[in-house]
Amino acid sequence: MSECMNFTEGEFYQGHFDSRAYVKNFYSCPRGHSDEKDFLTFVLRCLSGVFSKGDHRGQRLIDVGSGPTIHSVISACEHYDEIVLSDFADNNRKEIEKWLNNQEGCLDWKPILQHVCELEGKSLSDLEALLKQRVKKVLKCDVRLENPFYPHTLEPADCIITSLCLEAACKDIQTYRGALHGLTKLLRPGGLLVMVGVLGETFYKVDEQPFSCLRLSQYDIEEALGGLGLSVHEFNILPAKDQNNSVSDFEAVFHLVARKPSD
Ligand SMILES: C[S@@+](CC[C@H](N)C(=O)[O-])C[C@H]1O[C@@H](n2cnc3c(N)ncnc32)[C@H](O)[C@@H]1O
Repeated sequence: MSECMNFTEGEFYQGHFDSRAYVKNFYSCPRGHSDEKDFLTFVLRCLSGVFSKGDHRGQRLIDVGSGPTIHSVISACEHYDEIVLSDFADNNRKEIEKWLNNQEGCLDWKPILQHVCELEGKSLSDLEALLKQRVKKVLKCDVRLENPFYPHTLEPADCIITSLCLEAACKDIQTYRGALHGLTKLLRPGGLLVMVGVLGETFYKVDEQPFSCLRLSQYDIEEALGGLGLSVHEFNILPAKDQNNSVSDFEAVFHLVARKPSD
């Protein structure tokens, strides 16, 4: 059952989302939050599986709804020259900027970077430097808009990644479908969409603050993608391990890879 009375949309994140607590609780080590068991290692392994072989590459990659995080683009950064990170909430974008500029007190992504280095046989300092060099912009976005980057018009991307954003941002399935449409329009024909998300979740908590989540099934997502003409190439699911989870009620975490048709 949902712990939130009203769906917590972007404006609520702007005022109530504690970026630093979020990263501390969910991303301070590769195992992620202890209540969520193998959630984060699964995500990092899937993203590494997609990108580390170097089969997918291009000029531009956009991560939509990055929050204060950078983990979703670590494995991809070697293969895309320009990476844009983005989020609705100012504080989240500020934390990323602080990290990019090595400012005092910035978030520490070394444990997560180190884990990806171990998966891919890379050096921590090289990978961290490359990632910081490849991230060119951190932009405001709103996935509820037809153009999520309005008033900016971005060049078509070769790849879009989005992790745990759409189900947090969209209060109903119509809004979710509209948001996916907006993301698809940012992709070049033949471009790649990589998504990480949760199935069956209605809320998650950052410290004691609950946030809503749109309860989705695999069918909902595949139907939405199919309706936009995208072909799904991979749909990986890790079911939640047990019921003793105080920070969220997800039934499974998923990772998918889809492609926009070529013109
Ligand atoms: C659960 S966090 C996910 C953050 C990160 N991508 C991750 O994988 O951990 C959800 C994010 O969605 C963002 N968000 C909420 N509403 C949004 C909207 N309308 N447009 C863009 N981002 C939004 C929030 O600010 C928050 O950073």
